[in-house]
Amino acid sequence: MIVCRTKAEMRATVCDWRADRATVGLVPTMGYLHEGHLGLVRMARETADRTVASIFVNPTQFGVNEDLDTYPRDEARDLALLEQKGVDSVFLPGVEEMYRPGEPAYVDVPELSGILQGALRPCHFRGVSTVVTKLFNIVTPDLAIFGEKDYQQLTLIRQMVRDLDMPLEIRGHPTVREPDGLAMSSRNVRLRPDHRQEAVALNEALDRAVVVAKTGPSIADLETAVRSRLEGSPSATIESIDIRDADTLEEVSGTLDRRVVILLAVRYDTVLLIDQRVVAPPN
Ligand code: PAF
Repeated sequence: MIVCRTKAEMRATVCDWRADRATVGLVPTMGYLHEGHLGLVRMARETADRTVASIFVNPTQFGVNEDLDTYPRDEARDLALLEQKGVDSVFLPGVEEMYRPGEPAYVDVPELSGILQGALRPCHFRGVSTVVTKLFNIVTPDLAIFGEKDYQQLTLIRQMVRDLDMPLEIRGHPTVREPDGLAMSSRNVRLRPDHRQEAVALNEALDRAVVVAKTGPSIADLETAVRSRLEGSPSATIESIDIRDADTLEEVSGTLDRRVVILLAVRYDTVLLIDQRVVAPPN
């Protein structure tokens, strides 16, 4: 496995592969890998000839009061896992390698970056779309894989690629879950043990919505079902429950008459968890 710490090393590695007409799949990550990331790696390996994983805790997507400094990191373990999973190269740049000082150019998808999580975390999605564009420009992958768990991120990246004619395919990977249903996340390790137990509420609330969706409900009925399960978790602070068009993230109301996505943001103490589920009307 080739570890590239500079853009030049990464470009040279991909250039060698291209000489053999190899296709390249990219799995962008912020490290501290778990089964969820490894699912993305598996998908990339099944789809492309060569797989690159990037590990970069991107400062521009964290707000001033967010958890950049305490974001978990374990480079040695991440590298061992990626090697074991057959990744061909890891791109592991430092902050100075990725960003020059000052006010660098950025990429934004304003329609999607200011809503939902973007309204709670100003500049977050601008940071994501900018760093993902940079990664695409450095690695030049044929396809890139993102988890469906970060649904708004995936929707925004799909739109960015479409609107800016970026020459690659974006694939979403279904959320990978712990045996009790909690969506895997690097943040789960920071949950207190009692909060970790309670956090199954997110998945169970979404399961309830799937059952209710079969009855031909209104959007409000779906929300009530989800909220009542979350309220059964005494330590949970419900930051948001949003039900939106599954493709555009536009607001929806009235009867459930199209595919919608239910997006949850729930906090346990300082740990913000997100989860999502797409539900469809009966038939
Ligand atoms: O989902 C993530 O881990 C990050 O937002 C990403 C896509 C690697 C960009 O920093």
